[in-house]
Amino acid sequence: MTPPLRLGIAGLGTVGVGVLRIVQDHGAMLAARTGRAIEIAAVSARTRDRDRGVPLSDYAWEDDPVALATRDDVDVFVELLGGSDGPAKAATEAALTAGKPVVTANKAMLAIHGQALAELAEANGASLRFEAAVAGGIPCIKALTEGLAANRVTRVMGVMNGTCNYILTRMEAEGLPYEEVFEEARALGYLEADPTLDVGGIDAGHKLALLAAIAYGNRVDFDGVQLQGIERISIDDIRRARDMGYRIKLLGVARATPAGIEQSMRPTLVPAESPLGQLEGATNMVVIEGDAVGQVVLRGAGAGEGPTASAVMGDVADIARGLNIAPFGQPAATLERAVRANAATPCAHYLRLSLRDEPGALARVATVLGQAGISIDRMRQYDHPGDDAPVLIVTHPCTPGDLADALAGVSGTGVVGADPVALQIQDV
Ligand SMILES: NC(=O)c1ccc[n+]([C@@H]2O[C@H](COP(=O)([O-])OP(=O)(O)OC[C@H]3O[C@@H](n4cnc5c(N)ncnc54)[C@H](OP(=O)(O)O)[C@@H]3O)[C@@H](O)[C@H]2O)c1
Repeated sequence: MTPPLRLGIAGLGTVGVGVLRIVQDHGAMLAARTGRAIEIAAVSARTRDRDRGVPLSDYAWEDDPVALATRDDVDVFVELLGGSDGPAKAATEAALTAGKPVVTANKAMLAIHGQALAELAEANGASLRFEAAVAGGIPCIKALTEGLAANRVTRVMGVMNGTCNYILTRMEAEGLPYEEVFEEARALGYLEADPTLDVGGIDAGHKLALLAAIAYGNRVDFDGVQLQGIERISIDDIRRARDMGYRIKLLGVARATPAGIEQSMRPTLVPAESPLGQLEGATNMVVIEGDAVGQVVLRGAGAGEGPTASAVMGDVADIARGLNIAPFGQPAATLERAVRANAATPCAHYLRLSLRDEPGALARVATVLGQAGISIDRMRQYDHPGDDAPVLIVTHPCTPGDLADALAGVSGTGVVGADPVALQIQDV
């Protein structure tokens, strides 16, 4: 009879408690599926005597996550503390050095230290699993690494920050300005302590960098992700995009181009009738396109106790079954340093300009864009109460780099008010 697989769980917050509940409620089912009992040996958190709504008395307690990770009776270290460095990294390294498998939900740690941790895991014959780190309950790492392993991936896209999707869909549904919905999200506890992690695209950028590493066989390159947050999206942008058949999402896109890997996380217009365009509220979506399979769409809860714990326990089940797949789908030593090719692929753009209300202003802007090789597909001027007139332009496909040069020229005309807003339109 195979001995039980004993877990050491560091972190008893939202995700840690979810994991405890699954182990406590689904023990027999998990044993039947994996052929091995899964038990909890020991746990760790900052505050020992807090009531967490789940029984803890059967488990040993450690104040120090590193001590937990190296206990003799812990076979698998489950890291649910958070933070890119500090105790999460120290305990993960301690477990891997001791040859113990690690399961983590920590995208920040992996986005920054993923390569070093993968090398450490492989050097010690231990597995390092992180399904919960990307899009919560959606098994997208498993899909890319295993089910789609035979595909050359042409593009990976994702709406992977539920808070941003909540803010954008609520602005649209209720006609509310960004600032008001942002404060509402803060009051509801949806935002990280540092909100720029969410609304600045950093959290979602971490996730995209992890997916891109697996899809393209490169070392995680978070610094190579072009980031733009949702802070400058106005209710007018949302309405006008809708008028033209689009919705605005904080969309991550990674693709391989002849010049290298493009990675971006930015507010993007997507067709309203596409699966990405129909996404509502805090739900996440990951879209993977492969040369053999075509398009695969995965949709589900990207955060929360149950969904995130589900992903953690999926990884634990694989370890119980004896699977040890390289963390990024191929040996860490074979992962190439990413060649960055940002702003390489042409796409249509949505531009919002604020023009001085004077004769010939629009013509001057159109001329400058034309001279820079940016051709205009559609253009609309809207009613306006003040001195500046909002003008909306949809371009034919151009590279973001060419557009940036053109907009610098537009700013030099002296007829433009506030900085233009430029959003990509993604063909999905
Ligand atoms: N929440 C989600 O929906 C979600 C989704 C996907 C991924 N994740 C990731 O999952 C991880 C955990 O997230 P969470 O939402 O569960 O966080 P959380 O609710 O803030 O819980 C963090 C836990 O870690 C413990 N902790 C923090 N520092 C510690 C230390 N130095 N020593 C011992 N324990 C320490 C805390 O102890 P106390 O309880 O005593 O303070 C708490 O139990 C993060 O990496 C997060 O990014 C979360």
